[in-house]
Amino acid sequence: MRENMTKEKQRINIDPWGKALVEDYSRLIKEFGMQTFDIEEMPNPSMQMKRGLIFGGQDLNIIAEAMKKKKRFYCLTGIMPSSTKIHLGTEAVIQNVKYFQDNGAETYVLIADVESQAARGVPIDEGRKRAMEFHIPAYIALGLDPKKTKFYFQSENKTVSNLAAICSQKITENEFRAIYGSVHPAKVMSAFTQMGDILFPQLKEPMPGVIPVGIDQAPHIRMSRDIARRLKKEYGFFAPSASYNKYTSSLDGSFKMSKNESVGKIEIPEDNEKELEKKLKKALTGGRATAEEQKKKGGQPEKCIAFEYCKNHFIKDDKKLGKMYQECLGGTNLCGECKQKYLIAGAKEFFKEFDKNFKKAKKSIGKVKFIEN
Ligand code: TRP
Repeated sequence: MRENMTKEKQRINIDPWGKALVEDYSRLIKEFGMQTFDIEEMPNPSMQMKRGLIFGGQDLNIIAEAMKKKKRFYCLTGIMPSSTKIHLGTEAVIQNVKYFQDNGAETYVLIADVESQAARGVPIDEGRKRAMEFHIPAYIALGLDPKKTKFYFQSENKTVSNLAAICSQKITENEFRAIYGSVHPAKVMSAFTQMGDILFPQLKEPMPGVIPVGIDQAPHIRMSRDIARRLKKEYGFFAPSASYNKYTSSLDGSFKMSKNESVGKIEIPEDNEKELEKKLKKALTGGRATAEEQKKKGGQPEKCIAFEYCKNHFIKDDKKLGKMYQECLGGTNLCGECKQKYLIAGAKEFFKEFDKNFKKAKKSIGKVKFIEN
C-alpha cells in the first residue's frame, strides 16, 4: 500500500541525455500528452508496429492519411556519432525510418555531430570519421535506400543552424526549463540545433513530417511542436508528427541501453561470437526460482530481456517467435536452453546478416546523397 502510494506520486522523468527506464507506458502517454499508437490506421504495419515496440506517437493520423493519399510528407531522424558502434535502440529507429521511406516519405537522416560535440565531447572531425566509416553504411545495411535517403552533418548544414537561431527566439528560459528540467548550455545548444533539424525540410515547402524516435527524445518533439505553431504564420510550418519507440533494456534489465555505457549492452556490430554468447547468457530472464516451479508454472516472457531482444530485433519470423513464447509459458524449456535455442541462435543470424549487408553497403557508399547548402 505504502509502496503504491510513493509510486503514484513519483514523477516520470524523461531526459534525452539520461538513462532511466520507463515502467508504465500508458501513464507516460497520459502525463505527457502523447497519443496511443493505433496500428489500425497505419497502412502495411511493420514488424515493430505489430510487436508493440512503437507504443505512442503524435498526430500519426496525418501521416497515415498522407501515405494513403500519396501526398508529400517527410521522415527525419538524427543519430549522434557518440560511439564507433550503434546499439539496438538505434537499429529499431532505423527500421521505423525504413517503414516510412518504403511508404513514400522523403527521407532525411542526419549525423548529430554538433550535439555529440556539445553533449558528449566528441570532436566534430572524429564524429565525421565515425559516420563515414561506420554509421552511414550501417544504416544502409539495416535497410535504408541509399538512393532515396538524404544525409547531412549538423555541423555542415547552414540552413539548420540559421533555423536553430530563429527557433531560439520562440521559447522562454522558463519554458525550456519546464521541458528539459535544466538550462545547461550544452543542452540548449543541442536542443535548438535539433529544432533546426526537425523543421528544416519544411523551409522550402511546408508539409507534414514524421520524426521516429526513442521515447527519450519526447521533450525535443514537444518543443518542436510548440515552436512550429509559433512560427506558423511566418513560415507555414506543420507541427511535426512523431512515433515513439519503447526503451531498449540493458542486458540485466536495469537501465535503458545507451551508446556510452560499457556494460550490459549489445552493440552493432558484435565481431566476437564468443563474447556475444557470453554476454547473452547473462541476460535477465523471467525464469522462476527453481526448475520445478518453472516446469509447473512456466516462465514469464513479458519480464524477460531475452524475449524482448528476440521480439524487437533478432527473430523476424513470427512463427518462431510464437514458439519461443509458447514454450516459455508452457515451461518446456529452462532459461538456459531457451537462450541457446532462440536468443543466441537469433542473434548470431542477425549479426551474420548485418555483416553481409554492411560489406555491400560499404561498396555503395558512393551512391549516398549528402545535402549541400
Ligand atoms: N538527439 C538525438 C540523439 O540523442 C539526435 C538528433 C539530432 C535527432 N537531431 C535530431 C533525432 C532530429 C531526431 C530528429 O541521438
